[in-house]
Amino acid sequence: MSYLLKFGGNAIGGEEGMKRLSGEIADLLRGGMSIVLVHGGGPEINAELERRGIKPEKVAGVRITDERTMGVVEDVLSSINRDMVTALREAGADAVGLAAGDVTVCVRKGPAEVREDGRVRTVDLGRVGDVVSVDLRKIDSLLNAGKVPVIYPVGADQQGNALNVNADTMAAGIAAGMKVEEMIQITDVPGILLDINDPSTKQNILTLAEVDALIEKGIISGGMVPKVEACRRALEAGVSRVRMVNGRDEGSIVSEALRGSDRGTLIIR
Ligand SMILES: Nc1ncnc2c1ncn2[C@@H]1O[C@H](COP(=O)(O)OP(=O)(O)OP(=O)(O)O)[C@@H](O)[C@H]1O
Ligand SMILES: [Mg+2]
Repeated sequence: MSYLLKFGGNAIGGEEGMKRLSGEIADLLRGGMSIVLVHGGGPEINAELERRGIKPEKVAGVRITDERTMGVVEDVLSSINRDMVTALREAGADAVGLAAGDVTVCVRKGPAEVREDGRVRTVDLGRVGDVVSVDLRKIDSLLNAGKVPVIYPVGADQQGNALNVNADTMAAGIAAGMKVEEMIQITDVPGILLDINDPSTKQNILTLAEVDALIEKGIISGGMVPKVEACRRALEAGVSRVRMVNGRDEGSIVSEALRGSDRGTLIIR
């Protein structure tokens, strides 16, 4: 059975975090699991944009990506990818680093209707894409050879133009195409919170209808929006379980969630 794990830059930043997650993934592989890993890198991209004098801009959790920003996104994500592949190999997992363009076809999104803080507006996101198809043969052949594909979300359209895809959107596109057993998004919050400053307001389980109401009220905002939309897409494609967990928690990050503890937030139809 195959599983898709996605981690973001704030959750698994730096060597320590990567080492910890890699150890856990290596154990899960030894237990016979097939794992595809997708990662983002939002905070690292922001830091590099600022270093190069470019102002980071996001709407509803999605980065507005002009040509210069695209270059930074590629540089930073490919570098995180190399580090994660190294960490996995050191932990004994046979990892293979890939750009999403190696295993998917994407299409540019064009101007998008975004709902933010209860308002709808149209925004040109620039070189931002979405997944239209997944090369299952390629991914399956890696998994069958016992490898862990580690994918960063720079896709390409049919003409080979690079596209920036939100990492959660990429994770959902691949999870949906593969119909994995479970998708786990490893992030930097305990789950969906009713009050972002109060961890005790974490929701253990939410339906998509409840999620919609929370978006409407502006309680789910920013980076949480593409995350829950990714959950919706995966569920609608037949992925059985989707949840988000905190990558900064003590102990095992994903093993417990896979065992069905009430870590994080489980999203159901
Ligand atoms: N209701 C909510 N509950 C929890 N977090 C929320 C909520 N609304 C918005 N958020 C924000 O969503 C953020 C997580 O999304 P974000 O895009 O920042 O990280 P990520 O997707 O894990 O990483 P990356 O973007 O690097 O892949 C949280 O840090 C939090 O600030
Ligand atoms: Mg994000």
